Amino acid sequence: MNVLSLISTKGGVGKTTVAANLGGLLADSGLRVLLLDLDSQPTLSSYYALLAPSNAGSYELIANGITETDQIVTATVIQGLDLIVSNDREAHLTTLVLHAADGRLRLRNLRSAFEERYDVLIVDTQGARSVVVEMAILASDCALCPLPPEMLAARELRRGTLGLFEELEPYRYLGVGLPSVKLLLNQVNTNRRDTSLIMQSLKNTFASDPHISVCASTIPDRVAYLNAATLGLPVHRVERKPAPGTRGPSAADIMVSLAQELFPQWSAKIAAVNSDAALQAPAAREV
Ligand SMILES: Nc1ncnc2c1ncn2[C@@H]1O[C@H](COP(=O)(O)OP(=O)(O)OP(=O)(O)O)[C@@H](O)[C@H]1O
Ligand SMILES: [Mg+2]
Repeated sequence: MNVLSLISTKGGVGKTTVAANLGGLLADSGLRVLLLDLDSQPTLSSYYALLAPSNAGSYELIANGITETDQIVTATVIQGLDLIVSNDREAHLTTLVLHAADGRLRLRNLRSAFEERYDVLIVDTQGARSVVVEMAILASDCALCPLPPEMLAARELRRGTLGLFEELEPYRYLGVGLPSVKLLLNQVNTNRRDTSLIMQSLKNTFASDPHISVCASTIPDRVAYLNAATLGLPVHRVERKPAPGTRGPSAADIMVSLAQELFPQWSAKIAAVNSDAALQAPAAREV
């Protein structure tokens, strides 16, 4: 099982959007995907309609170590896509993780319970510094960090998000490897010319760091992502062909490229998803 977490100490950069759409795409590719919502504001938990929601969720997983899927996992309407909802509205987990002896390592120690059942675990986190975010980082193989294509945001990422990774370095002495870090430009405005300059600048900045790389894929600022959230569907089902009047590839092609870049081992499966005529047509869902 691969564990991918969405990390950024800045809010509103697209963590939940990427987690939901990547999860939906991988599930439609035939992979068994589990989403874990660790944000106390449960946006990811409400992205997809749920089949028979369970009473327990992230709180029981982390606080009580409950890993039985029939107790804490809820199936979504997307086949192959399951979810552990966030039910820690008052952020009690932060205090608990801070004070427990195994605190920041708790999710890492629990992940083996899901190894057999899922191919991918995608963890969404809060857009701020917290021990729960640190716990997600220490449980991950890869940390995907969305950021808007702006120099000031890139500098803030260096100070905030990457500072967080540096502070976790001492865990290496305990034999706990840190995840590879991938920076992903999100909400790119295709009319602006400075995106490639910012990409190059990020690449140059981190060229000598073996743990940090910049994704070749970038996600444009598209209304399709908002429409997809409204419909409660992954964006590749909503915009399969380039929208009239827009430049560049469709949202489906973009998500396929990103997923292939992150999971090259499943490249063929992922490529097939966009040609599958069996995908259901969009229908509105309740709020
Ligand atoms: N590529 C995109 N194109 C258009 N809108 C986008 C795109 N990515 C994200 N958005 C929109 O931007 C807003 C913030 O995105 P999202 O909630 O995914 O960010 P976040 O990092 O999870 O925020 P938070 O830190 O508050 O959890 C949402 O309204 C989302 O629909
Ligand atoms: Mg979010």
